Formats: sequence, C-alpha cells, structure tokens
Amino acid sequence: MIIFPSYLSAPSALETISVCQEIMKSVGVAEINAVHLKFIDPFGMAMLGACFDEARRQGRVIRIHHLSPGLSGYLQRMDVFTGIELVDCTMKNGTRQDRSDALVELTQLCDRAEVGNAAHRLAKAMIGRADPDDMPDEMTGYTAYERLVEPLQYALNELLENALTHARRGNKNACVWVASQHYPNKNLIRLGVVDNGCGFLESLRAHTKLQREHHLDAILLALQPRVSCNRDLGLLADSVNQGVGLTTSCRIAEHAGGRMILASGNAMHSTSGYSGESTGAYWQGVGVAMEVNRSKLADVHVKDLLPPLDDIPAVKLRFE
Ligand SMILES: Nc1ncnc2c1ncn2[C@@H]1O[C@H](COP(=O)(O)OP(=O)(O)O)[C@@H](O)[C@H]1O
Ligand SMILES: [Mg+2]
Repeated sequence: MIIFPSYLSAPSALETISVCQEIMKSVGVAEINAVHLKFIDPFGMAMLGACFDEARRQGRVIRIHHLSPGLSGYLQRMDVFTGIELVDCTMKNGTRQDRSDALVELTQLCDRAEVGNAAHRLAKAMIGRADPDDMPDEMTGYTAYERLVEPLQYALNELLENALTHARRGNKNACVWVASQHYPNKNLIRLGVVDNGCGFLESLRAHTKLQREHHLDAILLALQPRVSCNRDLGLLADSVNQGVGLTTSCRIAEHAGGRMILASGNAMHSTSGYSGESTGAYWQGVGVAMEVNRSKLADVHVKDLLPPLDDIPAVKLRFE
C-alpha cells in the first residue's frame, strides 16, 4: 500500500514528487492510502494529474482508500479522479458546485497551438468574474480586470509554452497539467504547472554557463535573464528563445507579494529562499508553482519587469 503524506503541495514538492514516483514505479493495481492527507494545492493536483495519466496509460487501476469527505468532494470537482476508484471514502455530496470564480479544474494541454487561448482563458478563470461597471482607464485603455489578468496570462503563456517546446527535447509527446485556486482568506492565487518532459538539466546540459551537471544548478541557471537553451541559434525574434520567460514570471510573483517554486529531477528551488536536492525523489519533467497576492496584481506591470534589451550580447556583424 502506497501512503499519501499529509501535504501534497509546492512547499513539500520533494515529498509530493516522491509519492508520485512511487505510484508510477509500482506494478499492477496501485493501492493508495490517503488517511493522512490533509491538504492538496494546485501544484500537488497538477503533479497527481501527470502521475495518474502515466499510470492510466499503462492500463493500471488506481485505488484510493480512506480519503476524507472534504478532500474527495474537492478533488472530484478538480477532475483529478477521472477513472480512479475511491474505496472507503465518504462523499460530502455528489453534486458539482459551480466554483468557476475560485478554481481552475485540472487541465491537460498537449497541443502547442492551444497555448495562447488556454493562457487567456485560465488567467481569466483565476481572477474570477469581472465587475460589470469596470470601465477602461482613459489613459491606458485597460480595465482594472484586464490589469489583473495580464500578469497571470503572461506567466501562464510562458510556462505552458516552455512545457510544450523545451520539455519536448527529450520526450516529443510531453504534455502539461495545470490547476489553480484562489484562497480568499489570504487573497492568494496559487497555480501549479507540471510537465512530463525532459527537465531543466537535459535542456540546458550543453549551456556554457552550467557549472555542474546537477538539477539544482540547471534550475538556477534557467532563472537567470537571457539564459535559453536556444540562445546560440540566433532565434531572437521568437519569444521562446529570448530567455526571459522564467525570469519575468518570477519577478511577477515577487512583485505581487508571492513566490515561485520550481522542481525538476531531484531538486527544488523556491524564490523565497529554500533550495534543496533529494537523494530519493525524482521528477523527470518540470513542476512549477506560482503564488501571488490577488490584490497586488494590479500594481504589476509586465513591461517594466522584462529584462532590458541592452543586456543582449552584441551580435557579431560580418561585412563581406
Ligand atoms: N518546462 C521545461 N522543460 C525543460 N526545460 C525548460 C522548461 N522551461 C524552461 N526550460 C529551460 O529553461 C530555459 C529558460 O526558459 P525561459 O526563461 O522561458 O526562456 P526561453 O523559453 O526563451 O528559452 C529554456 O531555454 C530551457 O532550456
Ligand atoms: Mg520560455
């Protein structure tokens, strides 16, 4: 029997990854005891989404035992449990409440062409409904609602795009799972984005600035401005290769009173301070958790947070 820990969440990313790995490595029916599980955040949800998908593709049955009534209802609304058997779990009630103002059901994306629309739709769902009296600002032309949506849309677009481009270097069928939730008591929006691709180390292994071939070093390198696995290809017109997506997403989180947590391979890093490597837990792809304070989003201007253009190394010109 596999045992879920108390928290499946971004702050306990390595523990979350460890149990997902255990599920994926086990053979036959995966029997999971959820009696200790108290809390699951969007990162945990997206991780389970990726992990259950893998198990299902192997044709395996997943059975979860003793999940608390509150969590069963919540996780069913989040679509985590499609095709999963719940055993000895009491349901609060079977009806699916409309909570579209507060949460984004677990979503799987596999098609890069869908990223733009998905980022827009998900960012709007994360902010909730617009105020009908919200008029565009005369100077900028943007409504207050659009100003809240923009930073989240930018970050989602970058994270999803990364997952369906860079992550496919090692696994061309890589997909990405995303979930989000608004926590009204602290006015926090949490987002989880998890892919099953090649991971940071694989995509940056050949980068000249990578000091050690360690997952933690690769995560920290990816966060630096203008670091991209494709920088040397000179594809600067392409936003995927400018090396600013992760840097800017972190800045957005921090300016909005939050943080980013990134996990890949056996390592995790949080912009609020903690970095670590595990001897056991291992996630082949990349998992990102972002937390922002909803009330601070309006003060975040993505344009101001983008790394300046003058830090792009000069292109060698040849006159022949
Ligand atoms: N999901 C991912 N899987 C693998 N590698 C990634 C992923 N996301 C980012 N990376 C690595 O981190 C680098 C920096 O990402 P980013 O800041 O978005 O810049 P860019 O996408 O322009 O290269 C990427 O070039 C890639 O090497
Ligand atoms: Mg990018």
